[in-house]
Amino acid sequence: MIYCSPHAELGPSGVADSSRQKSLPGIFSRIAGTGSYLPEKILTNFDLEKMMETSDQWIRDRTGIERRHIAADGQTTVDMAERAARAALDAAGLAPGDVDFIAFGTTTPDMLFPNCGVLLQARLGCRGVPAFSVETACSGFMYALSIADKFVRAGEARRALAIGAETLSRIVDWNDRSTAVLFGDGAGAVVLEPADAPGILSTHLHADGTYKDLLYCGGGTDLSKTRRTIAMSGNEVFKIAVGTLCKAIKETLAANGLDRSAIDWLVPHQANLRIIQATARRLDLPMERVITTVQDHGNTSAASVPLALDAAVRSGKIKRGQLLVLEAFGGGFTWGSALVRY
Ligand code: ACO
Repeated sequence: MIYCSPHAELGPSGVADSSRQKSLPGIFSRIAGTGSYLPEKILTNFDLEKMMETSDQWIRDRTGIERRHIAADGQTTVDMAERAARAALDAAGLAPGDVDFIAFGTTTPDMLFPNCGVLLQARLGCRGVPAFSVETACSGFMYALSIADKFVRAGEARRALAIGAETLSRIVDWNDRSTAVLFGDGAGAVVLEPADAPGILSTHLHADGTYKDLLYCGGGTDLSKTRRTIAMSGNEVFKIAVGTLCKAIKETLAANGLDRSAIDWLVPHQANLRIIQATARRLDLPMERVITTVQDHGNTSAASVPLALDAAVRSGKIKRGQLLVLEAFGGGFTWGSALVRY
């Protein structure tokens, strides 16, 4: 089978086109490498105690969070994504110029446009290849992964980057203790490549916009939405998140004819340890098979799943050949899951 980028003739002069014509080995995609990046600055619960009326005890009891990373002044979502993408490419033994597709999940873009995918593409030097952002809040990476998987399986991409990156510290109201303690910054990435056997076994995406008022952030072109920081009805979000994520995991297993005992690792959205524990309990999954990084990262929205995945791969917990369920839930509401043979 011959692969030819649909954008081959459209690139500006100087963009290599013929090099993107390659033969495809299979019709599945697999994760060739993972990467992540966390900014240097760490904000602990004790630091927050000095900034607002809160306590380390309250934050840990209600969320499991102990610390989170905060982007440096001037450091952007794309800055962090570039570090994560380069790390994922290194892990896959690939060069930035090998990338031929970029799907970038974020809810904190550097600019309204050009989108973060395009800004990252320029940094990586893979001119001419499709690059775009997906703004589905915390499930942004799940959407990006699902889209990238489909392009690889369709033979329209061979080295696809799926990214989740966020600078949530810029859209947090630091005077609102009910949300400010929850969020952090960071980026995660995976590189997908074609494979003869399935790596990504299935992905499942959903959305329900009727919940738009329970978790939102203004700042777009609707000037009536004057709140430009994260607003959340925490209790309601909590309950719906647990029920929805349980359904999403069951849907993923059922689609593949599997029982939960087949899962080696659940890699959940790292929003709140209580949500993760409640989900695992309802599914009868022992916490020993659940990856948790929320204590160190806080909720990094679209970056949360790829950050957790990369941390678990690099620490040696997740090994090649193991079966993973990835899931995320966020503003919209939007949610998504994937069954992955790593
Ligand atoms: N420190 C101390 N006290 C606080 C703080 C704080 N940081 N924040 C709120 N409180 C107080 C409240 O004022 C309230 O006080 P009151 O009883 O005197 O009125 C009390 O703590 C309890 O507040 P609740 O909001 O009922 O606390 P709850 O147990 O629900 O925990 C939390 C709040 C952690 C936000 C929880 O609702 C939650 O985790 N919700 C899910 C949110 C989430 O995970 N969203 C992410 C999913 S989507 C996404 O990732 C964007």
